[in-house]
Amino acid sequence: MQLTITHVVVISLTATFLLLAADKAGGLRKDQYVWTPPATQAPITAAADPDKGKPPPHNDKVEDLPDGKGRETTFYTCTACHGVALIKAQGLTRDLWDSTIDLMLEKHRMPPVKPDDRAEILDYLAEQFPPRRRGRGSDNPFLK
Ligand code: HEC
Repeated sequence: MQLTITHVVVISLTATFLLLAADKAGGLRKDQYVWTPPATQAPITAAADPDKGKPPPHNDKVEDLPDGKGRETTFYTCTACHGVALIKAQGLTRDLWDSTIDLMLEKHRMPPVKPDDRAEILDYLAEQFPPRRRGRGSDNPFLK
């Protein structure tokens, strides 16, 4: 029998399907790394916190944030770990600022904030750093 191109195609397709079927439930990949969600982080205690009492890693002052209600609360709550530049670089909706605070709390282990303070910070951030307008000139420093 002569092996035509059709034979070759049919045979390779069959082989592929057989392999896929065999592997369907990961059967051929038993030793592969499987992601499992990390255990929830234990809250950092004062005694275990290696950064306790260290000065923040920047020389920013309250005045480096634009003036407005909530500036001080925001400064003292939000610049323990990074400078104001990280904050000023963002322009977000209120919802996204809210999620940013959640992110700081959950992922970056920011100490809990009092609800009143949180509301004040959120008002301040939403007011001072709203989403930037896209479009002509908005990213052009020469047009400012
Ligand atoms: C306990 C430490 C800590 C505190 C307090 C903290 N952050 Fe952060 N924040 C971080 C870390 C860590 C990063 C990631 C920094 C980096 O990439 O260099 C970060 C990044 C950010 C970013 C940049 C995110 C991005 O997507 O680029 C923003 C914005 C931000 N923080 C805002 C805030 C605000 C607002 C507060 C106060 C409500 C705050 N942070 C308080 C630790 C903190």
